[in-house]
Amino acid sequence: MDKLQIEGGTALQGKIRVSGAKNAALPILAGALLTADPVTISNSPHLQDVTTMIELLASLGVEVTLNENMQVEIVAATLSSFRAPYELVKTMRASFLVLGPLLARFGEAEVSLPGGCAIGSRPVDQHIKGLEALGAEIVVTDGYVRARAPGRLIGCDIHMDVVTVGGTQNLLMAATLAAGTTRLYNAACEPETVDLANFVNALGAKISGQGTSTIEIEGVERLHGGTHRIMPDRVEAGTYLVAAAVTGGSVHLRDVAPQTLGAVLDKLQQAGAHIDVGDDWIALDMQGRRAKAVDIETSPYPGFPTDMQAQFMTLNALSEGTSTITENIFENRFMHVHEMKRLGAEIELHGHSMAVVHGVGELRAAPVMATDLRASSSLVLAALAATGTTTIDRIYHIDRGYETIEEKLGQMGAKVRRIS
Ligand code: EPZ
Repeated sequence: MDKLQIEGGTALQGKIRVSGAKNAALPILAGALLTADPVTISNSPHLQDVTTMIELLASLGVEVTLNENMQVEIVAATLSSFRAPYELVKTMRASFLVLGPLLARFGEAEVSLPGGCAIGSRPVDQHIKGLEALGAEIVVTDGYVRARAPGRLIGCDIHMDVVTVGGTQNLLMAATLAAGTTRLYNAACEPETVDLANFVNALGAKISGQGTSTIEIEGVERLHGGTHRIMPDRVEAGTYLVAAAVTGGSVHLRDVAPQTLGAVLDKLQQAGAHIDVGDDWIALDMQGRRAKAVDIETSPYPGFPTDMQAQFMTLNALSEGTSTITENIFENRFMHVHEMKRLGAEIELHGHSMAVVHGVGELRAAPVMATDLRASSSLVLAALAATGTTTIDRIYHIDRGYETIEEKLGQMGAKVRRIS
C-alpha cells in the first residue's frame, strides 16, 4: 500500500495549475447517459474516482475513449445493461448518479444502495423520494434500488427536505427528459451543480435557475451531443492555498475560478493571508507570518464548504489563538483530529459536530493514517508544516481527489516522496 513521506518545515512557494473538478466531472460523466449522440468532455482530471465512473459507464455498454487531446469521448447509443453493481458503488458513492439518467432515458435502472461511509451515514432518501414524485416505481430490495418508469417521467414540483448536492444532480438529470416542467425547491447551489446544468443545457436541455435554490427544468423529448469543459476544482485550489498559508509561504494558482472560493478566501484573509485575484488566477502570500486562528462553520454553498473543513483544522492547529470548527453537513467528519493529535495538535472534540482548536507553535512528525479524502489532505498539510519526516499511510484516499499531488507540491518546493 502506497504511503507519502513528507519532510516538513519548508515555506512553500510556487506556481500551480488547478485541475478540473472531480465533483463536477463525476455527475457530468453520468449525465452523458442522457443522449445517444457523442459527447466530448475536456479538462477532466486524471483521478481514481473518474476512472471508476468511466469503468461503470463501460460496464453499461457505453463507448468511452480518450482522444489525442486528452478529452473524454462518450457515446451512449445502445446500452447492454442498466445495472450499477455493488462492487463499483461501494468503492465510489457518486456511482449512484447514474440512476436519474438511466431511468429518464431508458425507463429502467438497477443501482446498488451506497451504504455507509467513513464520513457519515449519507442516505439517498431524497433521490428516491424525488424520482418517485416524477412518476418512477421504485423498489428497494437486496441492497439495490430497482427503478422503472413505464413511459416518460412526468415533471412536477419537488421540495427537498435537506440541501443535497447529489440529490439535486440526480433529479435535475432525470427531469431533463420528463414530460412537462419540474421545479426543484431547496436545491443545492454548489458550482458543480451549475456546471452539470450548463453541460446538460449544451446538449439541448432547458434548465434555468441553477446556482439558486429553485431550479426549473422544462423537459425535452431528447438531447443531442455536445462538448463541455469541466470547471476548475475549487477544493484542490483551496487545499494548495492552505498549503502555502500553513507553511508561511506563497502560491500562484492558475486555471482556477476565484468566484467559487468566496468563503474560503474570506477565511484565509481573516487568518492574515494577503490575497490577489484575477479572472482565472489567485495569488496568496503569507509573507512569512504565522496565521491567526479563524472560526469555521460548514454549510451548503455559498457557505464554507465541508470539503475544506479538515484543511482549515490544520491551519488552525498551527495558528495563533483558539478557534472553533463546527461541521454541519456530515456527522462523522472529524476523523483527522485523532491523527493530528499524534503530530502534537491540541484539539478537543465536543460531540460529533464541534471541535475547539488551540493553536500550537509547532507540530512534530509521526506516522499517521489517512481515513478519507479530505482528512488525508489535512494530514499532508500538517506534515508539510511539521518538524521532521512524517509518513502518511493509506494514501489511496488522496489519489481519489488530488491529481499528481507529489508533483504539484514539488513545484512549490515541498519534499514529498511516494513509497510502497
Ligand atoms: C457531495 O456529496 C460531494 N461529492 C462531497 O464531496 C461533498 O462533501 C458533499 O457533496 C457536500 O458538499 C460529490 O460531489 C461526488 P450531499 P453528496 O447529498 O452529494 C444528507 C469530497 O470529499 N442527505 O449534499 O453525497 C447527507 O447525509 C466529497 O469530494 C440526506 O439526508 O452530499 C449529508 O448529511 C465527500 N438524504 C447532507 O445531506 C439524501 O438523500 C449533504 O449530502 C442525500 C443527502
